[in-house]
Amino acid sequence: MLKKMNKKVFIRSFGCQMNEHDSARLKDLLIERGYAICGSPEDANAVIFNTCSVRKHAEDRVYGKVGTLGEFKIKKPGLIIGIIGCMAEARRDEIFRKLPIVDFLCGPADLDRIPDIIDKIKNGAGRIMYLEGYKSKIIPAFSRKRFTGKTAYVKIMEGCDNFCSYCIVPYVRGRERSRASKEILEEIGLLIKKGAKDITLLGQNVNSYGKGLQEKINFVALLKKIDKIARSAKISFFTSHPKDASLELFKAMRDLKSIVNILHLPIQSGSDKILKRMNRKYTVAKYKKLALDYRKIVKGGNLSGDIIVGFPGETEKDFNDTFNIVKKLQFDAAYIFKYSPRPFTKAAGFKDDVTLKEKERRHTLLLDLQRNILSNKKLLCSRPGLEHSN
Ligand code: SAH
Ligand code: SF4
Ligand code: F3S
Repeated sequence: MLKKMNKKVFIRSFGCQMNEHDSARLKDLLIERGYAICGSPEDANAVIFNTCSVRKHAEDRVYGKVGTLGEFKIKKPGLIIGIIGCMAEARRDEIFRKLPIVDFLCGPADLDRIPDIIDKIKNGAGRIMYLEGYKSKIIPAFSRKRFTGKTAYVKIMEGCDNFCSYCIVPYVRGRERSRASKEILEEIGLLIKKGAKDITLLGQNVNSYGKGLQEKINFVALLKKIDKIARSAKISFFTSHPKDASLELFKAMRDLKSIVNILHLPIQSGSDKILKRMNRKYTVAKYKKLALDYRKIVKGGNLSGDIIVGFPGETEKDFNDTFNIVKKLQFDAAYIFKYSPRPFTKAAGFKDDVTLKEKERRHTLLLDLQRNILSNKKLLCSRPGLEHSN
């Protein structure tokens, strides 16, 4: 039996809400196994970085941070260092090769193995890699001992079958799989009993919830069931894909009291040519109609979007089309990213022909535009914006 003083773990998340939720689950699992969670790597016997691969910048941050752990490992040779999450899947061999101080790698779907992995390494097992869990068709059951505050995440589905040509997520999170509604309702009921007031339903594409389940259910039907047990808790959800968002969803948002009127609906580009190359499966006109329908049905609802600038083949005209649609749609929040080629993806085979300088110019132009939109809106009314860490 390991002594308690050897059981201090530091965990840091570098990714999206799903990544943060996975870290919270891992903390619960480790606490159940007698570990204490500590606030800084200096105090820890094990340091775990939960990583993201969505853009190169996200990976560079992790490489930089792991580098700084070298001195701790010299001072404390038994220190265990683990890289988990999406980048562990994407960069498995590279991480072990470049970073000899890393003791284990574990993919997002193998999280539950981590307490055992740490024990095995302490017992001299050497380096360990668990990365195949994303091939599984199930999402592990939630912990009944789950700790929660006023806000909580609940995973309703995981993985993605959309294969947008720029995106690494389907390769690191695997195929779409949903959790049975009974289990989701049980988890939400438990969280509410423990005092949760703001609950966010998570999925890479929540609108395709239900695919592959034995029960006949879709996302709107799930929201209706949740609304019945929500009591005074507020329910949000994240993220929606425009090809699957529907009038039925907007009407449910309007009619169900517990559902918060916030819709994150990434547009990515205002050019049909680029949307096609991105494999997004909708046109600008379809997106525009959805946004207008949403605003008409969900009065005062918050609408936000993601945009990528500098995708391969994006001309000045394509960018201007994006600029104009952002101006027209008046998002309550817009998250703007510079295109970053990702391994495994289709777009990695396209020529990355927009220079970094030009990507930066387009990025700044859109940021300035969005800032102006927001300051004009604030003059009209003071409504809080939507925040997310993607
Ligand atoms: N599942 C979510 C998106 C997850 S990734 C959805 O489909 O909405 C979050 C955002 O990162 C995406 O919406 C996209 O705008 C951006 N992104 C993804 N891959 C990228 C890449 N290779 N380069 C730049 N931005 C990217
Ligand atoms: Fe990535 Fe597209 Fe799936 Fe979102 S819908 S996770 S952008 S492949
Ligand atoms: Fe990043 Fe993985 Fe989330 S790649 S955006 S941490 S699903």
